[in-house]
Amino acid sequence: MSKKLWGGRFELPTDKFVDEFNASIHFDKRLYKYDIKGSLAHVEMLSKQGIIHPDEAETIKEGLLQILEEIEEGKFEFKTEQEDIHMAIESRLKEIVGDVGGKLHTARSRNDQVAVDFKMFLKDMVNEVKMYLKDLMEVIVKKAEENLDVIMPGFTHLQTAQPILYSHYLMAYFQMFKRDYERFSDAYKRLDENPLGACALAGTTFPIDRFFTTELLGFSKPTENSLDSVSDRDFALEILSAASICQMHLSRLSEEIIIYATSEFDFIELSDDYCTGSSIMPQKKNPDVAELIRGKTGNIYGSMISLFTTMKALPLAYNKDMQEDKQPVFRALDDLMGSLKIMAPMLEKVKAKKENMLKSASKGYSTATELADYLVRKGIPFRDAHFIVGKTVKYAIEKNKQLDELSLDELKQFCDKIENDVYKYINVVNAAKNKNSYGGTGLESVKVQIENAKKYIKNL
Ligand code: ARG
Repeated sequence: MSKKLWGGRFELPTDKFVDEFNASIHFDKRLYKYDIKGSLAHVEMLSKQGIIHPDEAETIKEGLLQILEEIEEGKFEFKTEQEDIHMAIESRLKEIVGDVGGKLHTARSRNDQVAVDFKMFLKDMVNEVKMYLKDLMEVIVKKAEENLDVIMPGFTHLQTAQPILYSHYLMAYFQMFKRDYERFSDAYKRLDENPLGACALAGTTFPIDRFFTTELLGFSKPTENSLDSVSDRDFALEILSAASICQMHLSRLSEEIIIYATSEFDFIELSDDYCTGSSIMPQKKNPDVAELIRGKTGNIYGSMISLFTTMKALPLAYNKDMQEDKQPVFRALDDLMGSLKIMAPMLEKVKAKKENMLKSASKGYSTATELADYLVRKGIPFRDAHFIVGKTVKYAIEKNKQLDELSLDELKQFCDKIENDVYKYINVVNAAKNKNSYGGTGLESVKVQIENAKKYIKNL
């Protein structure tokens, strides 16, 4: 005879290794709070609908609250043979309140139970992620505001392209994290539909009130189709996708922190408390934190691919494969949350090395486009101007000079329309500060970006 909650039709007890292999309790115990919350709402609904007696409901509720306490105080014993958190709680309930505990699972299945638990858990996680994203956005805006006088080279192909404001560079990341914030908010909408009451797959003949549990559990509405409700894991995939994109942004920022902190670039100084040393090389100060954030990106992408692959071609409705949904999600969210949590204070303490950045921005002919634009203003078609400046740059490279180090006579060899006013156009600081087209790196434009960002954060 099997002693399982579902053991009625079984003659043999479950093989010991099958128990272990089948169990998810060692990881889904993390859902205990949500499981109890869901059960409390379910039992309340059963009572309201006259499906169970109010006294029975009261007894069950007390039992559930006692279990909650036991778990929170570390007194609850999680046993592998109870398979998952749902059955562990139900078994304990029966121990505490006796046979009436068996009434809790009326008009419910573990299939809708696990879906509702997972969704409630993810709703909380999304709110937490959004809180960390907000902190990070705040830090970025603060840094951008404090560093408006710092000029750095902007790159394409990691080759010097044009001078930009360091604040403009920082605000680029603000935009990325803002989109991440919105992606999580959007995914939340799909999390906000209550699957409880879908039962195993088909709904129930009991007169349940799904709108009531929806209200009690804080969902915006019940799901529309019971079959879909228990087989849907899109919501978890959306979270993993949003997490992957967000971590990709964090990894790009980390990569730049790592490069910019090298002695070769020497654009920034990382704070000691966010770096580690080497056990052999005394001079080292390594950007381990940024590297780890970059590294964790692999775990998060892996988690996303893992669940996509698990879900691929699964027939409707619930399949046990879907038990494999939780670990990747837990891992991805832990990694994302950790990365967000540490990025904000690390970034806040990054010091920009203004002189070095400016020096670097002045090299690499970063204002060659400015010279071409100058010629265009003098009536020369842009393509011709581009060619003239190309030749000028070639000459400057041969002379080992920057463009603004060429004399007016030298410049005039390439185009006699060049006058003395050219120097103010090819000045690195001016080149960066004056690009005030909407969204450009100009000082006025960046100030607008910062103002908009502040308004955005304030309304979150
Ligand atoms: N532990 C299971 C999971 O995480 C709960 C649902 C089990 N349902 C079932 N019919 N075996 O997916």
